[in-house]
Amino acid sequence: MDTVKIQAMKNGPFIVSGEVEILDSQGEKMDTKNKNKALLCRCGQSLNKLFCDGTHKKVNFKSVCVRNMSDLNPDPASSRLRRPA
Ligand code: FES
Repeated sequence: MDTVKIQAMKNGPFIVSGEVEILDSQGEKMDTKNKNKALLCRCGQSLNKLFCDGTHKKVNFKSVCVRNMSDLNPDPASSRLRRPA
C-alpha cells in the first residue's frame, strides 16, 4: 500500500493524496471524483462538506501551516495556551 499524504494548503483545504476511502459521519462511503486525491474543507464554509468547494477564497480563510508553532514565535513561553483563571 502506498503512503497516503495529507498536505495542509496555506489558506485552503487539506489535499489528501493516495488511495483512501472517505466516510461520512454515518460511516457511509462518500463519492469522490478522483480515487487518489481529495480536497477536504478546512475552513468549515464549504457547501459540499467534507470536500472543499472553493468557498475558502470567498470568505478569505486564513491559516498558518507550519511544522512547529515555535517557528512562528521564537519565544516558546509566549506561545503556550493560557487557561482561564
Ligand atoms: S477549505 Fe475550501 S471551502 Fe473550505
